[in-house]
Amino acid sequence: EFENRNRIYEMNREAALFFYSNLIKKENKGLEYLKERKVDLSTIKKFGLGYAENQWEALNNYLLKKGYTQEMILSAGLVLKRNQKDGCYDRFRNRIIFPIINTTGKVIGFGGRALGDEQPKYLNSPETSVFNKGRNLYGLNTAKKVLGKEKRMIVVEGYMDVISLSQRGISNVVASLGTALTKEQAALLKRYTDEVYIAYDGDSAGQAAALRGLEVLGEAGCDVKVVIFTQGKDPDEIITKKGKKVFLDELEGALSLIDYKITLVKKENDLTTIEGRIKFVKAIAEIIKQLKSPVEVDAYIKKISIEAQISEDAIKTEIYGNNRYNQ
Ligand code: CTP
Ligand code: MN
Ligand code: MN
Ligand code: MN
Ligand code: MN
Repeated sequence: EFENRNRIYEMNREAALFFYSNLIKKENKGLEYLKERKVDLSTIKKFGLGYAENQWEALNNYLLKKGYTQEMILSAGLVLKRNQKDGCYDRFRNRIIFPIINTTGKVIGFGGRALGDEQPKYLNSPETSVFNKGRNLYGLNTAKKVLGKEKRMIVVEGYMDVISLSQRGISNVVASLGTALTKEQAALLKRYTDEVYIAYDGDSAGQAAALRGLEVLGEAGCDVKVVIFTQGKDPDEIITKKGKKVFLDELEGALSLIDYKITLVKKENDLTTIEGRIKFVKAIAEIIKQLKSPVEVDAYIKKISIEAQISEDAIKTEIYGNNRYNQ
């Protein structure tokens, strides 16, 4: 079993090199696509990006020739069994390839992006004996190297966010490979840092995932903040179109868990109406109840009292009930 896993790592590395040389050896649609997205050659090298040509059996034939068995190539998720006839075909075709590398430098799986609007936009390796999506973070192998200088880690949604930020000198970035950050990923991060910035996409899926990420990372013992982007839909778009300074400014505006929750509740309620203000304060009271520090409680009661134009006493009663005054 151990030997088998090592063979898969080795084969994955061969596959990554195959995709990489497809991308850089001559002009092709993959290189064109990356040029369009402003990814430069040094970034391609740094992340070992590649290109799967628009062919059915290119990788399969290559690996068979290298001496890997069909069974092994299948078990790594690199190919799929044909339906009608014998044989296998490549899982990744006509896509940009992102090798997923773990912290010990092993290629554990791949992500592939369509060059156009083909669906699915991203295709990933399936779960294999060496790859579990929810237990790994894309980019951690490179991000961990800069953690001496940068003590905080930025968690983004996607491959392109990691790559794009890194190209512009922000390398303390990892992607959670999809949206929801798992407990295992949080525990993995905690081994490297205890200060995390969640910088997910501004759409509602991203923001919902940010809230879950906040909780999971908080439970893992990290100090967490969330960025709410206003200048574009995701980190890649912002840094590519607006530049590094705008991105860093957005990052500095990151909110703590409580401020993030308050922001969400505020968005849901119309503070210009009495009903809206009442609902707002009731929801916030539930949030303040969870705070442990009395100083924090006091500070937030003051803040909410001003925003909702409701007395501090009334908010305290809402939080603690009346018995607080009977003690
Ligand atoms: N993802 C995935 N499968 C999909 C869509 C997304 O695995 N069908 C994962 C990928 O890791 C992707 C991340 O979720 O990088 C974020 O998805 P999304 O925000 O939709 O894509 P972007 O990374 O912004 O893609 P791009 O900028 O290339 O359009
Ligand atoms: Mn610390
Ligand atoms: Mn997204
Ligand atoms: Mn995105
Ligand atoms: Mn994007």
